[in-house]
Amino acid sequence: MGEIVEVHVDPLEVLRTRLSSKWRTYPVDVLPLTVAEMDFSLAPSVADALRAAVDRSDTGYGTSASGLQEALAGFALRRWGWTIDPGSVTGVTDVATGVVELFRVLSSPGDAVVCNTPVYHPFFDWVEDVGARVHGVPLVHDEAGWRLDLERLEAAFRTGPAVYLLCNPHNPVGRAHRPDELAEVVRLAHRYGVKIISDEIHGPIAYGETEFTPLLTIEGASEITACVFSASKAWNLAALRCAVIITADAGMAELVARIPRDVRWRTGHFGVIAAIAAFEHGEEWLDRALLTLDRRRAQLGALLAEQLPEVAWSPPEATYLAWLNCRALGLGEEPRDVFLEHGRVALESGPRFGPGGAGYVRLNFATSAEVLEEAVRRMVRARGRVRIRD
Ligand SMILES: Cc1ncc(COP(=O)(O)O)c(C=O)c1O
Repeated sequence: MGEIVEVHVDPLEVLRTRLSSKWRTYPVDVLPLTVAEMDFSLAPSVADALRAAVDRSDTGYGTSASGLQEALAGFALRRWGWTIDPGSVTGVTDVATGVVELFRVLSSPGDAVVCNTPVYHPFFDWVEDVGARVHGVPLVHDEAGWRLDLERLEAAFRTGPAVYLLCNPHNPVGRAHRPDELAEVVRLAHRYGVKIISDEIHGPIAYGETEFTPLLTIEGASEITACVFSASKAWNLAALRCAVIITADAGMAELVARIPRDVRWRTGHFGVIAAIAAFEHGEEWLDRALLTLDRRRAQLGALLAEQLPEVAWSPPEATYLAWLNCRALGLGEEPRDVFLEHGRVALESGPRFGPGGAGYVRLNFATSAEVLEEAVRRMVRARGRVRIRD
């Protein structure tokens, strides 16, 4: 087997010409490692498919019936041994839309939606969008890392929530929930009559040591689960707006069918084209991206150990996000502000991820070795400046 090479990352001056949110939210002297988009260059198969679409002026409306469903089914079977019926795949604009539309079907205003905190902060907004309320269940954290608190989850389910929004793998802590944990989640959800929406957008970004387990591969999950998935995180396609809802049961499919028909027309056509290319021809690139991320993850661990040993973290098993406990640095509840002001490095605010986030930042390491090194250098500089001022 030949050596796997890292994916390409443009130099900083080229990255800075991007118009995306990550690169345009802060002044140019700030190094952004914020929102979950990658600095990697596009997978060639995806770039070629998009170029070909432009060449044939294929710029009309998108439909998941143009091969997306089959491409996804092929990928899921090869990658995870997960059998998806292409007919049970519904295209939507993005994961946010898929989850919110499912909330509209599965809950009524005032209902509770359970999720595990700290969590990807737009979950709170999505729940609010439909007039429901968040019932947060904290994750457990110990020397073994982060995981679901199944006892507290059961206590939450007992209160009769409408939906459990599972983040699998979990953003920001990077936990790839284990099959036995997911089996218990399914058992509890059946017992208390709770429907599950499983946000699996980070599924393909699991490192070798832990497998990602799609919830719908767990026995008994299909009758109560809708999975929301997209190629957009693993192949960096957020701009193109394409995600899918996947079911594996007639009853759940009937619920998804209640989503207004027009929602299906809001899937980005370039997103569909790019996702098909990613699923059919993008696996080799994905493996190289994972290898690259794995190296960045190790590099971050080494940099922190050497230069900021007070920062504690459990390296993520999945996602390219590092959830960093900065409490021992003494920078207060919002260390992000200190890093931004004194180090000119932008990280995500820990408290935004809900209870348990105070004193944390989230760092996106899907970048070059040089940028990552510079980011940690800036964090060290910020810490030093604050100490000097004290
Ligand atoms: C867990 C999770 N769900 C959803 C999204 C957003 O997905 P989309 O852009 O398809 O709405 C993200 C983006 O980082 C995420 O981390």
